[in-house]
Amino acid sequence: MAHALVVDDEKNVQRTLSITLSRAGHVVDVANSGEEAIDKINKTLYDFVVTDLKMGEVDGLGVLTAVKERDPETEVILMSAHGSIGSAVQAMKDGAHDYLEKPFSPEELLHTVALCLERRDLKSEVRLLKRSLEDPNDPDLIVGESKALKRILEDTENYAKSDSTVLITGETGTGKDLLARTIKRQSLRNNRPFVTVNCATIPKALFESELFGHVKGAFSGALRNRKGLAHEAHRGTLFLDEIGEMPLDVQSQLLRFLESGEIRPLGQNSNVIVDVRVIAATNRDLKQLIDEKLFRSDLYYRLDVLSLHLPPLRERRDDVDAIVDRSLTRLSKRIGREKPKITKASLQKLRAYDWPGNIRELQNVIERAIMLARGGEILPEHLVRLGSGSSAGGSPGSEGGIGELLPLADIEKMHILAVLKNCSGNQRKSARILNISKSTLWRKLKEYGIDSSSDGA
Ligand SMILES: Nc1ncnc2c1ncn2[C@@H]1O[C@H](COP(=O)(O)OP(=O)(O)O)[C@@H](O)[C@H]1O
Ligand SMILES: [Mg+2]
Repeated sequence: MAHALVVDDEKNVQRTLSITLSRAGHVVDVANSGEEAIDKINKTLYDFVVTDLKMGEVDGLGVLTAVKERDPETEVILMSAHGSIGSAVQAMKDGAHDYLEKPFSPEELLHTVALCLERRDLKSEVRLLKRSLEDPNDPDLIVGESKALKRILEDTENYAKSDSTVLITGETGTGKDLLARTIKRQSLRNNRPFVTVNCATIPKALFESELFGHVKGAFSGALRNRKGLAHEAHRGTLFLDEIGEMPLDVQSQLLRFLESGEIRPLGQNSNVIVDVRVIAATNRDLKQLIDEKLFRSDLYYRLDVLSLHLPPLRERRDDVDAIVDRSLTRLSKRIGREKPKITKASLQKLRAYDWPGNIRELQNVIERAIMLARGGEILPEHLVRLGSGSSAGGSPGSEGGIGELLPLADIEKMHILAVLKNCSGNQRKSARILNISKSTLWRKLKEYGIDSSSDGA
């Protein structure tokens, strides 16, 4: 079953085509003119459009252009009673799938439609196949040998194929972002937009307009129309990162959008239909936020259709070797060095550390070690960013820390991570202990590449 739009200025042609297509199981909309068709095309996504060539001001070629602009994957079949070869050739060049000369039989129409839908499916199959040949140099490749990660990757592959909402949870730096991109890449929406909304960084007052857009004059400062991020993601994937930070009023609007599939830009008096697959991620405990009345429980259940939890790195130490190897390859290349070797003792030290900042922190340590090793082998003493305070007893991290001659920034970062961990990721509490303002803390977290809070797990 597909969603079709029939465009013809002759009512009886419209009717005949609609009946034929509906009987074949398609959902059919009709438009009387090119203008009306363009209006519909902008509001709805059709699988295919059957349009007359000769019409009033906007003709079939105009409709074709509008369709392809909106979504190159919508197939277009042009019909004409005039059988002009020239237009047919032009239409093919412009991306029309096929050309039907009036009069044609219902069988001919259905045959053409079947062919174009088949072609669509083939195209997406080819895309899927291409995707399965993963490029080892892909910066987005998730590596690791732990059972936990393997299970997650299996689930991810299954989930990717469906269009359902996915909720990814895990401490900061565990790879939530990466996993969201992996889902997108393995999904049928791979070649479509992937739009990230970082809920932790959008100012509260602008949130609604960022997400849903606005029209010119909707508020002072709205100097022109602006498409919201949800709209930008149309036909693709909308990644709501740090969803736990989304203001409550925006949460209600998001819920409405998820339920209706429609958005209303600020100041506009009509809705726009938007088709997105939503992936949300958080390092917060949403259930706890619900208890604290900071997160809507109905939104939580709407998001938590499929869930993926990334355990902290210290609970899947079997991933460390592979991630280290991959980081050595990528980071040395980035700074223009040959990939260095790493000693067994260094690997052991890395595996034993607690990694409060997870894989992001591990990458920072590796990057620094590559510099310090100056082309030689990476020795334990090159692993200087391993914190002391935040790691559990027995971690070799405690040999490092204060005893080592570290830059002040490293000490600061480690200390912030330790305090955050102690406060179970609560930033307000951490800021109070550190005796700095919450905004200073935020700035520092950003500066040190700690997205937001480090959950105490
Ligand atoms: N399993 C993994 N293999 C390789 N790189 C990883 C893996 N997990 C995370 N990373 C890398 O670690 C960094 C942090 O991951 P990210 O997805 O941003 O974490 P989060 O969103 O949970 O804070 C990124 O550079 C990411 O590419
Ligand atoms: Mg992230």
